[in-house]
Amino acid sequence: MAIYHKAFIKTPTIISIILYVLTLNLSFKTVTWATTTAGINLTLKKECTTQTCFQNFLDQIENITVLPLDTVTSILTVAFSTLEKILEPSLLSSPTELAFFGNLVLKTSEKLISTLVKPTDTSYSVNFTLAAIEGQVFMLGPNVTLDKIPQLDMTNSSVEIDLIGIANNNNGRSAAVAFMSYTMMENLLKPDFFNTPENMIKTMMSTVISATLPKTTNTKLTKPVNFTLKHIREFDPSGSLSCVYWNISEWTVDGCSVLKTNSSYTVCSCDHLSTFALIMQTSRPPESDPLLELLNLVCVIVGLVFFSLALLTFALCQWSPGVNNVARINICISLLLAHLLFLLTQQFLNLIRPQQVLCAVIAGLLHFLFLSGFVWMFIEAVLLFICVNNLSQISSKKREVLSSGFLCVIGYVVALVVVCVSALVDPKGYGSELCWIKMDKGFIWSFQGPVLVILALNMIIFIKIFTTVNSALKNLNVEVSQMKKNKIMAFKILGQCVVLGCPWILGFFINGSEVLEIIFVILNSQQGTFIFLIYCALNNEVWQQYRKLFRLICCDKQH
Ligand SMILES: *[C@@H]1O[C@H](CO)[C@@H](O)[C@H](O)[C@H]1NC(C)=O
Ligand SMILES: *[C@@H]1O[C@H](CO)[C@@H](O)[C@H](O)[C@H]1NC(C)=O
Ligand SMILES: *[C@@H]1O[C@H](CO)[C@@H](O)[C@H](O)[C@H]1NC(C)=O
Ligand SMILES: *[C@@H]1O[C@H](CO)[C@@H](O)[C@H](O)[C@H]1NC(C)=O
Ligand SMILES: *[C@@H]1O[C@H](CO)[C@@H](O)[C@H](O)[C@H]1NC(C)=O
Repeated sequence: MAIYHKAFIKTPTIISIILYVLTLNLSFKTVTWATTTAGINLTLKKECTTQTCFQNFLDQIENITVLPLDTVTSILTVAFSTLEKILEPSLLSSPTELAFFGNLVLKTSEKLISTLVKPTDTSYSVNFTLAAIEGQVFMLGPNVTLDKIPQLDMTNSSVEIDLIGIANNNNGRSAAVAFMSYTMMENLLKPDFFNTPENMIKTMMSTVISATLPKTTNTKLTKPVNFTLKHIREFDPSGSLSCVYWNISEWTVDGCSVLKTNSSYTVCSCDHLSTFALIMQTSRPPESDPLLELLNLVCVIVGLVFFSLALLTFALCQWSPGVNNVARINICISLLLAHLLFLLTQQFLNLIRPQQVLCAVIAGLLHFLFLSGFVWMFIEAVLLFICVNNLSQISSKKREVLSSGFLCVIGYVVALVVVCVSALVDPKGYGSELCWIKMDKGFIWSFQGPVLVILALNMIIFIKIFTTVNSALKNLNVEVSQMKKNKIMAFKILGQCVVLGCPWILGFFINGSEVLEIIFVILNSQQGTFIFLIYCALNNEVWQQYRKLFRLICCDKQH
């Protein structure tokens, strides 16, 4: 308790606010003690800044056994509105201060509500609803004829307690239960007071409730007490729920358990009475490693630069007739846009994340762009296949047909259809924490599935191409040089296929492995570099064009 003492001394102003307001309200009001003959004044000094002084106030209530309902509610109203004023500017910051005030509020409320208990022969109940607290008291006397006590209900919670059994264990066969629900208590008794070994995000899922057995001598429970708590926040299915009780300075689970739960209610069972709440734990997004983040940023930017260079080369260089760059250009466009969008999204994630719709749209767009990159890769393989098989027959006209808008329709419409179908089947699948596809419930297969299918089809096509090329080379009936070119091209496209497909397959196995994550970051971001390398840097034709271009720029400068 020494630590609370310190906390208290540190915050004399706060205490004086509470006491001052209480004084204002009570000094001109004589609170009468209903059942005894003497009238009792509740008094509080204005300069009450010590724990002893406040303890005095509690002591004064301590000796009061019965108060009228309106007095209790007016004291509670004042106390909670004061508390609200204190909490608003966050005057309280340290955990010890918060816990101290939490305990104070609990103790005062429990004390006050217990003054509502009046001796009865049969049964008697009182309840009140204030903005900050709801309370209900239920009493049983010796002559009660109930065989089941009614459920105690509040707006967002209810309690089941075997009060009849408890009354039977008491002298005079009487017992009382007081049940309270605090709306804003989570600001004091924060869910972070729930100490668990795992570093999880804790969220309060119910109002804080208290149950006590005032003026009951034998408070031993005959049956566990059951609480039905309504979830006051959306329940995250990946989170885990704990029924907890407040023990002086922390939330703990000892003796409490979750009986059953659905998306909007949880039933808790506890073997003792106290202050309870329902806390949800969700895993923290993995700590991002700043070094890995920097590596990622640099890699993605390098990749983007090479994507742009490759794109410029494909678009601007004069290629020899027969070279079909449509697929390559579109792979570059799709992946360049995808990587750019991904980079921007991750950089501005804090701004984008709260806009759920925007986040989902970005996820859908990324899905579309990455997928169309793969579809174009498939088209590229198919074009080469056609080229190899109909080498002598294919006319330049046919090539024109293949390179026209028809390809674009296939390249983009297929991806669009996959995204639309996915969005129709499960619109909530888009928009994860990173504004990408959600990994749970198999939705990721809407991406991994098509990718795997395309990679598998491409492998089949490559095997076909290699066997055709090899048998043709043996035949010697065809233009050997062209066949050799095709073989080299097939190797290049195969390499591209592996480089573009690998990261996503690798993505399946990352699961926290840092080495794999680094490989993923590098492979995934360097797709542009690789494309530039195999199609531009390793291509004599392109180098000649670069030289021309270089000379042009140099000559311009000389002028
Ligand atoms: C409360 O009662 C106790 C004994 O029952 C007594 O010693 C104490 O002075 C009383 N306190 C007040 C404030 O009346
Ligand atoms: C609470 O639930 C448990 C388990 O269902 C049950 O055994 C117990 O009797 C219940 N308590 C009350 C007071 O109904
Ligand atoms: C009950 O829960 C709802 C949210 O489900 C919340 O808005 C409301 O303030 C709660 N009422 C009380 C009295 O706790
Ligand atoms: C509260 O915690 C203390 C030790 O931390 C323990 O001895 C005590 O039994 C707990 N209270 C309840 C009601 O379980
Ligand atoms: C959830 O459980 C509560 C209480 O157990 C019940 O009233 C409610 O109908 C249930 N809701 C659903 C969606 O099952």
